[in-house]
Amino acid sequence: MRCVYTWRRVGTKGVGFINRLGRALKSNGKVYLVGAGPGDPELLTVKAVRCLERADVVVYDRLVSPEVLALVPQGAARICVGKQPSHHPVPQNEINDLLVRLASGNRCVVRLKGGDPFIFGRGSEEAIELSQANVDYEVIPGITAAQGCAASLGVPLTHRGLATSVRYVTGHCRQDAELDFDWPGLADKDTTLAVYMGRANIAEIAGKLIAHGLDTATPVLAVCHGTTERARNVLSQLDRIADDVANADFSGPVLFIVGKVAALARSVEPQNAVSDDIVASATG
Ligand SMILES: C[S@@+](CC[C@H](N)C(=O)[O-])C[C@H]1O[C@@H](n2cnc3c(N)ncnc32)[C@H](O)[C@@H]1O
Repeated sequence: MRCVYTWRRVGTKGVGFINRLGRALKSNGKVYLVGAGPGDPELLTVKAVRCLERADVVVYDRLVSPEVLALVPQGAARICVGKQPSHHPVPQNEINDLLVRLASGNRCVVRLKGGDPFIFGRGSEEAIELSQANVDYEVIPGITAAQGCAASLGVPLTHRGLATSVRYVTGHCRQDAELDFDWPGLADKDTTLAVYMGRANIAEIAGKLIAHGLDTATPVLAVCHGTTERARNVLSQLDRIADDVANADFSGPVLFIVGKVAALARSVEPQNAVSDDIVASATG
């Protein structure tokens, strides 16, 4: 039978005691911190699929796609600890406690996180907590959104003559604090920027990149629900991306790819003249 729990039903009773006990006695269970990839279940690693097959319980985030969740075995319990920007129904410390508590019951616990657990995923915080509680754990990497979204549209994150490096950047700071980044370093015409969680701040991000020297016509690709059947995307440029994304009215997670490589995207809405010169220089 498939069991679906929310964190409220699981509750916090006894967590402190079990965690203290866990620190004293090594638990028999194991937690797998598994990357679910960007959405397409075919992008899961073989190891991730094998972990899911033997899971007793799966603790998952909002970003894990329904297609990936469909691979959770019927008999495994599911606990949703979904997070949304500015709205965290389950605080991180309670998720950490939950993992320790579940593993102490000799269970195979899969902590399923969108993309890669260690890229803007707080998987490393969970790993540290598990280690301190003497719980055995293993990290199974996943394809991160930047790789999945870019590849699904034929965009190389690096390309000879267009981008000599790539940087994964968060577009959102803790408690909506001001974006205090290395703007001169980020505004490098030969670097591809993959901006995660940047939707609310894309106007500010684009403005700062222009102010620090990037050309206003630098291509920007915005991908929503990348790699899934719900995928949508817009190819724009730095001085127009905020308006174009607002008009696109996306309804899911959005990743921005900033840099000349973005112009190589196929199947974009609307196909933009900005790409012609860049495609010519890349292929010529
Ligand atoms: C909290 S971060 C988690 C990143 C994740 N650990 C990874 O490696 O992809 C969430 C952000 O990832 C990006 N993201 C994740 N999946 C995506 C998808 N399928 N399409 C577009 N963006 C995605 C969005 O920028 C979203 O706001």
